[in-house]
Amino acid sequence: MGMLDGKVAIVTGAGNGVGRGEAIMLADHGAKVVVNDLGGSVSGEGSDKRAADAVVEVIKSRGGEAVANYDSVADYDGAKGIIGSAIDAFGRLDILVNNAGILRDKMMFSMSPEDFDSVVKVHLYGAFNTMTHASQYWRNESKEGRQPRAAIINTVSSAGLQGQASQINYGAAKAGVAAMTIIASLELSRYGVRANCIGPGGATRMVAQAMKIEVKNPEDYTEFEAMNPGNSAPAVVWLASDEAQHVTGQVFRLVGNNLALYRPWEMGEQFLAKDKEGNPKPWDPSDIGRIVNRYVFQSENPGIDAQRRS
Ligand SMILES: NC(=O)c1ccc[n+]([C@@H]2O[C@H](COP(=O)([O-])OP(=O)(O)OC[C@H]3O[C@@H](n4cnc5c(N)ncnc54)[C@H](O)[C@@H]3O)[C@@H](O)[C@H]2O)c1
Repeated sequence: MGMLDGKVAIVTGAGNGVGRGEAIMLADHGAKVVVNDLGGSVSGEGSDKRAADAVVEVIKSRGGEAVANYDSVADYDGAKGIIGSAIDAFGRLDILVNNAGILRDKMMFSMSPEDFDSVVKVHLYGAFNTMTHASQYWRNESKEGRQPRAAIINTVSSAGLQGQASQINYGAAKAGVAAMTIIASLELSRYGVRANCIGPGGATRMVAQAMKIEVKNPEDYTEFEAMNPGNSAPAVVWLASDEAQHVTGQVFRLVGNNLALYRPWEMGEQFLAKDKEGNPKPWDPSDIGRIVNRYVFQSENPGIDAQRRS
């Protein structure tokens, strides 16, 4: 028995790198897989059906079931076609992995609106487009009495969660994807749909140029190597499975053998401005400096009446 027997999965951008490893491992664990890939360049130019076709062949050669889809996630109607591929080929959808991505790195003062737009279109709109169509399908299923046990797994990056110079387009999109995932987890739980993120890593064509390293397909590694982009796939398989039924709205990172869970944005220390009688009063700008320097940067006496909110 595979962990994902009976489930149907879509992996976007599964023709190369991280998504390729995820599609193959999902199939190895019993899922039927739609291998979506537009087949363009790292910067998002052109298209080629061979990227998706090759992965379908790999999955079939390992005894799995898969079909190819070549639509662009950046296109709203294309995304509808991707969801439709799963229903047409396998009669259902249980797992949506949004992985497709492109890069156009530049410092903001050199970045054209087109470079900003095209990256946001694939990562942020791409995830929105597929999630929208998939959630309409799952909501209908739920309303007709077939409550889904479904999972969305979106792909994020430290560039968005921690920041990276030269990636203002990509970082903004990835931070947005993390925010959309948390919102999706809130909106879709009543329909049996969970939504989580994975931050992957590995020597893919996307990062190879910068790192000057060889790019191999995940299935071509014969022993453990930290840079195998297939190393991130086990987190996707588990998050997609019913074993993770209690897990939603979370951001995981799995790179090499290093598994981590991101902490969410949370409210830090809070301070209330008060007058001498203890009544609430507006903040004075320089009082803000004194309080923040004293309690947050620990450098100066605040010198006003202020009370830490417990
Ligand atoms: N490789 C890393 O170290 C790393 C780190 C953090 C996050 N990521 C993320 O992992 C994901 C996969 O990246 P990768 O490194 O495997 O890169 P990759 O270039 O090897 O794979 C990305 C795939 O997405 C496809 N794609 C691009 N635009 C598409 C579109 N509009 N519609 C459908 N498919 C499209 C490409 O054809 C390609 O096959 C991306 O979301 C990326 O941002 C990768």
